[in-house]
Amino acid sequence: MLCPEHDVRGFLLLSMNTILVGAQWGDEGKGKIIDVLTENADVVVRYAGGNNAGHTVYIGKNKYVLHLVPSGILRKGKLCVIGNGVVVDPIGLVEEIEGLRKLGVMAAPDNFVLSETAHVVFPYHRELDAQREVLKGKNKIGTTKRGIGPAYGDKAARVGLRVNDLVDPERLSEKLAPRIRENNAVLASLGAKPLSFKRVLADYSAAGKFLKPFVQNTVVLLHRAMQRDAGILFEGAQGTFLDIDHGTYPFVTSSNTTAGGACTGSGVPPHRMDRVVGVMKAYTTRVGEGPLPTENAEISDLLHGMGREFGATTGRPRRCGWFDSVATRHAAMVNGIDELAVTNLDGLDTLETIKVCVAYQHGKERYDFVPNDAQALAECKPVYVEFEGWRAPTDKARAWRELPPKARAYLKAIAELSNAKLLIASVGPGREQTIFV
Ligand code: GDP
Ligand code: IMO
Ligand code: MG
Repeated sequence: MLCPEHDVRGFLLLSMNTILVGAQWGDEGKGKIIDVLTENADVVVRYAGGNNAGHTVYIGKNKYVLHLVPSGILRKGKLCVIGNGVVVDPIGLVEEIEGLRKLGVMAAPDNFVLSETAHVVFPYHRELDAQREVLKGKNKIGTTKRGIGPAYGDKAARVGLRVNDLVDPERLSEKLAPRIRENNAVLASLGAKPLSFKRVLADYSAAGKFLKPFVQNTVVLLHRAMQRDAGILFEGAQGTFLDIDHGTYPFVTSSNTTAGGACTGSGVPPHRMDRVVGVMKAYTTRVGEGPLPTENAEISDLLHGMGREFGATTGRPRRCGWFDSVATRHAAMVNGIDELAVTNLDGLDTLETIKVCVAYQHGKERYDFVPNDAQALAECKPVYVEFEGWRAPTDKARAWRELPPKARAYLKAIAELSNAKLLIASVGPGREQTIFV
């Protein structure tokens, strides 16, 4: 029997508001799953992060990597929104829109809208991001150097500029001047080159002019869409353990990447959210520094040898490890994940034995949650159970019954260990390589 909220293929039905989050450390394959779920949504909203994100979508042989523009843009007739919770590098955004146009994807004011209250990333944010990493030395976070931390820092310190400042040349000039002065003094103290106010103003005025037609009050826009019964898909960026509150601080990004961020980052209240879908890989990856309990050379070499697991934004090789069900169970708890999309199952096709972490050993104690302290997590040793590998290609499977029985058993087990229902199994980057369970 089909559950009433699903259509015949198991797709979520229209007019449901769905939050999609990464259940691990980012790069779970959110872009691919967003693209699949967008088919049955009307509006797709990015609510957190900035162009530190890199969401990859393959359509046929074409590869698209989205950084700020919601992945929903790749389907016609969908409204894509950058919400107030995002930090926007306008130069990067203009480049992204132009890059998409060259690939035949139109982001025009009728299908792409930018919140007037999203904060703006400036060159001094990027420069400070880089300088702070240098200062941290071996304790560096391994940021994407996109200025994300300093931009959210300015937002919290109430000295940030927002999109409505960007698109008003007079306001921009007035508010930018003291920011450049202050940041140049900081940069000078760090031995970095000062920025030219004139140059930044010229570049940002031009980007503001380009972006102005896209700018709207997105909170009102989203509420009007809901009054018309539109279904909204909230496109999470980064992952649960990169969340500023719930991640492995300080090895995190600077926003609330978890489900709660969808409300604050869009202005859609909690009681309007219908479900949360968590995306996770059939194994674990992380890019950047910080603890990763199940990190493992064998699986890392295997995946890198296949040309996989290189960052979509920075090209850095991702650190790889076994599936960590302590982490995904914790993610299910914090986000309220109802359903799971498991991606990259095909990455495990050749393995004889597959390990899954089911608990952490910390000294004499056993944890079945992720400690909220990076030091404590670094001291945790994974407790594994082993699964027999299926040792057969899964990338051609198009239905649950076409998967090898051992692969099905593995998927069922990791979903159960994660405390959520399995909705999707993904066996390749393509749209068609998606199995609704
Ligand atoms: P995101 O940031 O969560 O959107 O993930 P990324 O795009 O950064 O990284 C996920 C990578 O996995 C991308 O290269 C996707 O094309 C790829 N991918 C997603 N699902 C699958 C899958 O099931 N199998 C394979 N082989 N690749 C996948
Ligand atoms: P998507 O949306 C994976 C990581 C960085 C670094 C930390 C802080 O593609 O999953 P930042 O530049 O945000 O200050 O870096 O967070 N990070 C990501 N890792 N996927 C991402 O986004 C990430 N965005 C940031 O590598 O460890
Ligand atoms: Mg990514």
